[in-house]
Order: sequence, then C-alpha cells, then structure tokens
Amino acid sequence: MVEMASPYKVTYHKRKLKAYLNREQIFPACLELDLSTECNRHCSFCPSAASKSVPRLELGFIERLLAHLGGETCGLLLSGGEPTMAATFPDALRIARENGFLEIAVVTNGDFLSEDVVAEALCAHATTIRVSLYDWPHTSEADLRGTLHRIEHLRTRIEKTKSPLQIGISALTTTENASNIDEVCRAVASSGAHWIYFHPFCIRWAEGTPQRVDQRGVMEAIADFRNTAADGFGVFTFSDRYTEREIRFDGYHAAHFLLVVGADGINYVGAEVKYQRQHILANPGQRWDANFLWHKERLARIAAVRSDTYPALGSRHRGVLYNHVIQKLLNCETTSVDDEQAGETSYLYPHIL
Ligand SMILES: C[S@@+](CC[C@H](N)C(=O)[O-])C[C@H]1O[C@@H](n2cnc3c(N)ncnc32)[C@H](O)[C@@H]1O
Repeated sequence: MVEMASPYKVTYHKRKLKAYLNREQIFPACLELDLSTECNRHCSFCPSAASKSVPRLELGFIERLLAHLGGETCGLLLSGGEPTMAATFPDALRIARENGFLEIAVVTNGDFLSEDVVAEALCAHATTIRVSLYDWPHTSEADLRGTLHRIEHLRTRIEKTKSPLQIGISALTTTENASNIDEVCRAVASSGAHWIYFHPFCIRWAEGTPQRVDQRGVMEAIADFRNTAADGFGVFTFSDRYTEREIRFDGYHAAHFLLVVGADGINYVGAEVKYQRQHILANPGQRWDANFLWHKERLARIAAVRSDTYPALGSRHRGVLYNHVIQKLLNCETTSVDDEQAGETSYLYPHIL
C-alpha cells in the first residue's frame, strides 16, 4: 500500500531514527521553509495570519541554510505566504537541487502557475506541487475553473518538457463539505492533477491553539470517492488526524526530523505553531551560526515540550503524531524501529515529512 502521510512516515528514516534513539545528534530529514509570508489572498482562517508582519528571507540566508543542510537533509517543503510570489522562488528551487535535496514540494494557492518563470522553475526543479483548494464547496465556479485551467496548462507543459513534476491538490475537510468531496474531486482529477490529499480544516490559529473542526462523515466520503476514482489518480489522507486516539510525548522529538523555519528566519517547534513567539527554538536568521541545531538552549526547549501542556495538540498535526511514535520507541513500548512501520506500506515522497 502506498501512503503519503502517516505517523509512521518518520520511521522511513531509520538511520536517523536509530541515531536519535541512541541520543546522537542528527540533521533533520526535511526542512519546511517559508520564503515570505506575503500572499495575494487574505484568508481569515489561514495559519500564516499568525505572522504580524510580512517578512521575506534574504537569498543569502536561504543559500547558507540549504548549503548547511544539503547532503544530510533530502526533503524541502516550501510554504508561506505564497511561495511562488517570492522573488527568491526560482533561485531557492535551483539552489536546493544544487545542494543535493532529493525531493522538493511546493505548497501553493496555484494562482501563479501560468507565469512562465514559476512554471519553468517548477518543471526544472520541483518534485511536486500541492495546490490548496480553499473553502471549495463555496468557491465560485469562475475561481475553481481558473485553478483547474492553470493546472491543465501546467500538465501540458509537464508532458511537453518531459518534466517529472507531479501536480497534487490539497483539500481541507469539514463535516459540512463532506458531501461535496465526490463532485470536486472528479473535476480536479479530470484537470490533469496526479493526486489529491485531504486534511482537516482547523480554527484558532491566531490564539496558538489550532484544533480541528467537526470531521464526522469525512473519512466515509473519502473512502467512497477512493473506491470509484479513476485508476492512476492518487487519493490520500492522514487517517490518524481524523481520530481521537490519545497522543503522548515528553519532548517534541519531531523537531529533530522536521526543521520548520519561518520567513522571519526563525526556527519554530512545529508547523502548527509557526510565528508563535512562545514556540521559538532558535533564531539562525538573526546571526548565522552553523551549529544552531545543537545549541544547548534549543535542545532544552525541544525537550521541555510535553503532550499534556502543548496548546496545539488538538490540531493533531503531523509533528505531534510523529512525536507519539518516537516516544513509544524511546519508552521501548515498541521493540524496534523496523517493527514500527506497520505492514507493507511505502511512502510517496518519503523525504517530505
Ligand atoms: C497557509 S498555506 C500557505 C501556502 C500557499 N499560499 C497555499 O495557499 O497553499 C499552507 C497550508 O496551510 C493549509 N491551511 C490553510 N488554512 C488552513 C486551515 N484553516 N486549517 C488547516 N490547514 C489550513 C493549506 O491547506 C496549506 O496546505
């Protein structure tokens, strides 16, 4: 079975995981980086609205960070803000490739996919894009058609240039929009996208306590669509994000595997608390220090995050789910790293955590 997201995806990185369990220093497997928080859309429910200003990373900082991690960190996830709007976007993709990043994913609203400089950089360097559909049952026909049209265009360019770029879609789910899953997904699949990924809509980002809204009926609707989707079109979700299963951890272990750096050059505990001052781990953007990953203060801050007091636990974001798995290994509740990867699962984009 092929999955895109699971709490166990972190166990794909066995060498790093074994080293971490042996209390050794490791480089992260994946970097999530915001080039800027600037965006052409102004969505009130957006997690990036937690950033009070509109910072942009300097190319020099991007170069230093990617060169430092390159060879050790193989996954890069560009988010934002709208990454394709940033002046540094094409260079950031190229520099990542030059530094040995194996998988590069770009999370985008898709509004600039028809711009030559964006499409060219994507086709040349990126592994996949993930186009976010926002409030999709209520999106106007014209808005949705515009996005699908740009996807069609990009797909044509991919075929023409024989680019390995894949086009993914991400759709935020709620109980209310579950009944529209089938209709919207069919439209998306026929536009030339390769896959779709569903994840829960969350609220309370600005308060630093993101949590999912009601998701009843969503998993059933996704399963129904999956059973009838065209062959070759990938339908993915992160099923553990839709359960209420208990999460326990003593230390935000995932911060050692997934390095989250905002457009302010600051390293945050996890993606779910980006731009929240109380969750800063380090500030390598202020004065570059190649050893920032292993500074005593950073390690102590990571170790101090506990599930019983972590305010963003209710989001069941990927970081907290990775923490739970790693904690079980640390507690020896699971016998080995190898056992933890249940069954015959393989991962699409294993370096993109
Ligand atoms: C804030 S967007 C920024 C990147 C890009 N501008 C875009 O629109 O995809 C990054 C991610 O946040 C997710 N997101 C936005 N609003 C959300 C919400 N209310 N709950 C959960 N995820 C959300 C999007 O689906 C996307 O995957």
